[in-house]
This record gives sequence, structure tokens and C-alpha cells, in this order.
Amino acid sequence: MIQKFENIDRIKGELFLRGDKSVSHRAIMFAAIADGVSVIRNCSGSEDVHSTINCLEKLGCKFEMNDDHIKVMGKGFKGFSKPNSELYAGNSGTTARLISGILSAQNFESVITGDESLSQRPMKRIVEPLMLMGANICAHESGTLPIVIKPSAIKPINYKLQVASAQVKSAMILCAIHLDEESVFIEQTPTRNHTEKLLNLKTEITSGGARIYVSKNNYPLPFEITIPSDISSAAFFIVMCLLTKNSTILIRNVSLNETRTGVINILQQMGGKIEIDNEREEKGEKVGDIRVYSSKLKNVSIPKSIIPNIIDEIPILSVAGIFAEGNFRIDNSKELRVKESDRIKSLCNNFKKAGLTVNEFEDGFELSGNVSNAETLFESYGDHRIAMAFGILCMLMKNGGSVNDFECVGVSNPQFVEQIKNLTKY
Ligand code: S3P
Repeated sequence: MIQKFENIDRIKGELFLRGDKSVSHRAIMFAAIADGVSVIRNCSGSEDVHSTINCLEKLGCKFEMNDDHIKVMGKGFKGFSKPNSELYAGNSGTTARLISGILSAQNFESVITGDESLSQRPMKRIVEPLMLMGANICAHESGTLPIVIKPSAIKPINYKLQVASAQVKSAMILCAIHLDEESVFIEQTPTRNHTEKLLNLKTEITSGGARIYVSKNNYPLPFEITIPSDISSAAFFIVMCLLTKNSTILIRNVSLNETRTGVINILQQMGGKIEIDNEREEKGEKVGDIRVYSSKLKNVSIPKSIIPNIIDEIPILSVAGIFAEGNFRIDNSKELRVKESDRIKSLCNNFKKAGLTVNEFEDGFELSGNVSNAETLFESYGDHRIAMAFGILCMLMKNGGSVNDFECVGVSNPQFVEQIKNLTKY
């Protein structure tokens, strides 16, 4: 579906966003392996989280979907049963990778598949370390899905993570949580730590990085949780508000976990007026209300150490960068090439369409020049974050524009268009 966007010169109002996608995946999975009933409020309504639920249903877990909460009838330690067909993870890397960790410790065979995009994404990054733990797991010879997992004897491990990826870290933690003996994971570059927080894992910060300790003692018990709103979805509206005149928005109860707030820090350094109110902690996760005001932005240099923290927000940060003083430049971001699309290519191709001068590198890109006023049709590349970033760009362009295959936004935020419309009814 081609989604057309008119120019919007002001947004105003309060925005309610569904629960964080990363936290929702984990809450659903941890509730499914716990022994008993858990209650999850404000779960993400994304297609990705539905992929997780669908896979867990095939493993025998039951879910009761209510208006304001999901009840999960957890199966308990190794309580899953052999699925009678393949587990389809759709577009969701988090589903495929985290569930591989859980399945590596079960005593039945399972096969994980995904859609065309997920079937091209690298899986060796989880297959190889899980094999080191004794898992009988193999990917297709190209290192991609399908993944086949057979029963095996899992053993504890002391392992230095080779890729700065929360999905790899979490897959290993979820395998190790089935063992009496302790495993230790050493993470040199911090990545999102929702798994550690929700499972209450002991983490020591040392000069060699974070040391994360896991054993069956950390196996989850049934729980209740209200998931804070998704900061990655919020980022699109924050940038839209900063870049339109006389705009102000309030986004309540947003997840402010320090491994995710890099986007706010960078936008503030760029001159963005973003205030945090009512900061508090819920189940170990920081939460607060975000107030945003129109601002004049200037580009800043983006350090290597913050890249894993902002990896999902680089598409929308680069849109902010083209309206900011100076050139937008990002390096050290090769991981963008293995996301839902090759995001460096997707961004560079679309920015060229917008009339900018684009210098593409292996691990990033630099943008200069001015956005054209010509009405443009942008490509989403079937990638939700590319679609939303260029949806925002269209609304900032004088004559608007369009984005193709826009329905892919359902992967993280099916309500994007409706939410933007609500912010123009003031
Ligand atoms: C995620 C981790 C990140 C992120 C993805 C969600 C998670 O991926 O890009 O959208 O929930 O663990 P990597 O762990 O592969 O960097």
C-alpha cells in the first residue's frame, strides 16, 4: 500500500504508545517458561510480538488476550511440548534468536523459519555460541534460517560475547538458565539489558566489561508487569515535534532504560528541547514522561560507543540530521546492513531521491545539501523503521510525499498513521 503524507507544519498534544517491543518479547517468553499464570499489561501490539506469541502457542503455551492485559499460562521448567509444525518467526529477529536459546535446552526437535527478510539475516552469531554450550543446532549452509534444533546435553559456559548484540546475549542467557551450574557472559560493549533486568541477573561492571551471571536460580517465577511505552516508536514523534514550528508533545510512561536513551541524549546534544518528568522505576526499568518542544538543531559527532544504544533509531536520527545545521554523518554502524533491510543502502537510496548528496561507506554514510521540494515516492524496503522515518520526512517536505509498502510499519507500530493524525487535531 502506498501511503501518502501531506506536509504538516505543527503537531501538538498527548501521545499514548503501546509497550516497548523488546521488553514485550521478553515478558511474553519469560511468562511462558515460568510455572503458572502471569499478567502482562500494555504489551506491544506489534506483529513481531505476535510472532513470539504464535511460536509459544505452538509449543503448548496458552494465552488469554484481554482488552487491557494478556494472561499467560506458563508451562514451567522444560514444560513445552514438541511443536507439530515449524515455528514461524515472521519478520522478527528477536523471536527467532531468543527462542533458539530456549529451544536448545528442550528435549525435542524444532525448526524455526521466518519471512523473506528474516531468512536473509545472520544466524551464525547465535548458532556458533550455542553450539559451544553443547546445543545441537544448525542453520542453513548460508548461515541463515531455517534453524534446526535437536535435543542435546547443554553445559555451562564462560563466554566473551563476540558481537555487540542483545539478541545473541539473550539467546545464550535463555539457554544457560536451564542449568544448575553458573554460566558467565562477558560483554565489552553494552547492549540493551532488558533480559538481565527482568530476570534479575547479577551483573558486575569490571574494566574488561560487564560480567553477567546466570543459572537455574534465575529461572523466572510467574509475575505481573506493566510494560512502559516504546522509546523506539516515540523517537519518530520526538523528531517530528522538534522539527516543526510551535509544536509541543507529551509522551507518557516511556521506557527510559539507560541502554535505550541514546537517541534522547543525541537529540538533546543537537539542541533539542526534550524534558523528562515524573521519572520513576518499575520492575527495575526506568520510566518517565517525555515533553518535547520545537527546536533548532545542529549536527554533532556520534561516538562509536553509543551505536548499539541507538542502532534502531539511526534512520530517524538521520532524518533529524538533514534539517540540522552542518552535515549528518554516522560511522561504526555496519550492523545496520543486517537489520530488517540493509539500512545503510535503504537510507542512502531514499536520501538521494530526496535530492541530498549522499556519501555511503561500508559502516555508515554522510549527508549534505538540502531536501528538494519535489513530491517523492520513497521505498520502505519492507522495513518498518525505514517506512516511518520517510513518512516523517514526507510530512516535513513542502509538498509532502509517499512511502510504498507502508503496511510494514505494523511490525513495530500499527497505529503510526492514526497517532500522527491525532497530533494534528488541536
Ligand atoms: C533487540 C536488539 C537489537 C535491536 C532489535 C531488538 C532486542 O538487535 O536492533 O530491534 O530486543 O534484543 P541486536 O541484538 O541484533 O543488535
